[in-house]
Amino acid sequence: MITEAAEALRAGQLVAFPTETVYGLGADARAPRAVQRIFTAKNRPDDHPLIVHIATADELGAWARDIPEAATRLMASFAPGPLTLILQKRSDVPDAVTGGHPTIGLRVPDHPVANALLRAFGSGVAAPSANRFGSVSPTTAAHVALELGASVDLILDGGACRVGIESTIVDLSRGEPALLRPGGLPAEAIEAVLGQPLKLGAQTKAPGTLPSHYAPRARVLAVDARALRAKVAEVTGRVVVLADHDVEGVPRIDLPADPVLAAPRLYAALREVDERGFDVAVVALPAPTGIGRAIADRLRRASHPRT
Ligand code: TXA
Ligand code: MG
Repeated sequence: MITEAAEALRAGQLVAFPTETVYGLGADARAPRAVQRIFTAKNRPDDHPLIVHIATADELGAWARDIPEAATRLMASFAPGPLTLILQKRSDVPDAVTGGHPTIGLRVPDHPVANALLRAFGSGVAAPSANRFGSVSPTTAAHVALELGASVDLILDGGACRVGIESTIVDLSRGEPALLRPGGLPAEAIEAVLGQPLKLGAQTKAPGTLPSHYAPRARVLAVDARALRAKVAEVTGRVVVLADHDVEGVPRIDLPADPVLAAPRLYAALREVDERGFDVAVVALPAPTGIGRAIADRLRRASHPRT
């Protein structure tokens, strides 16, 4: 299957594959026409840059230039893992990948299937999350099939994603390191290695940073766990709570209080809300530290009213 998937990439086709964070929709990052198909399949605006996935941190230099020492240090500590670095791109990187930006996002995923695919393919794979634009990221192969179905040539099934929330994005392209998206790797761990705090990123056009994103159809209300009951009493319609404990009289989808355990459940839980036809999901916010910061970020975006 890996050999077949690598062949498909070489032929300019789209391959969905598991990573430790979420499933990606991959194409040969050196082939603009293949990359263009990603945007069509996702219905994604084509000035939104993609992350290029590489097999090892040794390949950074094939895609980026003027690589700062901080990048080498972060990769030494966290690659493979849920970290994406934004660096100055080399001039031979197709504009289709970077949405015309002078920078490139690079990451080394930590998943046996993703890594086998990257090694077999032998080059970088451009891949956003394998969902339709604005929707919840897929954390199983079945979610990918539901989201993209016929527009993917091949889906590699690696089971449920272990981390369950997208990579942390750190911009090292303009001097001071900046956090563009909280994610699976806690910002605190990155700051400890850098020996300095991360600035909050000046956000470029990044789909994961749009106010309304990662959103199910149902209305999402994220509240402190202690305010669950009061919030449930305020709302009307078919209500469900996402929490680790019951609120009397309301159905519940389990979401652990520990953010490390909640992250791999989060997107599947939001999907279940829609599948079961609820109008409103009242969600208990985890503590906003570590990966909890990424969960709080995604819930805030999921609860933003769409236009
Ligand atoms: O965990 C992940 O990062 C997953 C898996 C598949 O690796 N990928 C993912 O891709 O979440 P996507 O496209 O859904 O989100 C990528 C984010 C976007 O917010 C995008 O704008 C940002 O990375 N990004 C990519 N290249 C960038 C660049 N050059 N400058 C700023 N942001 C960039
Ligand atoms: Mg995405």
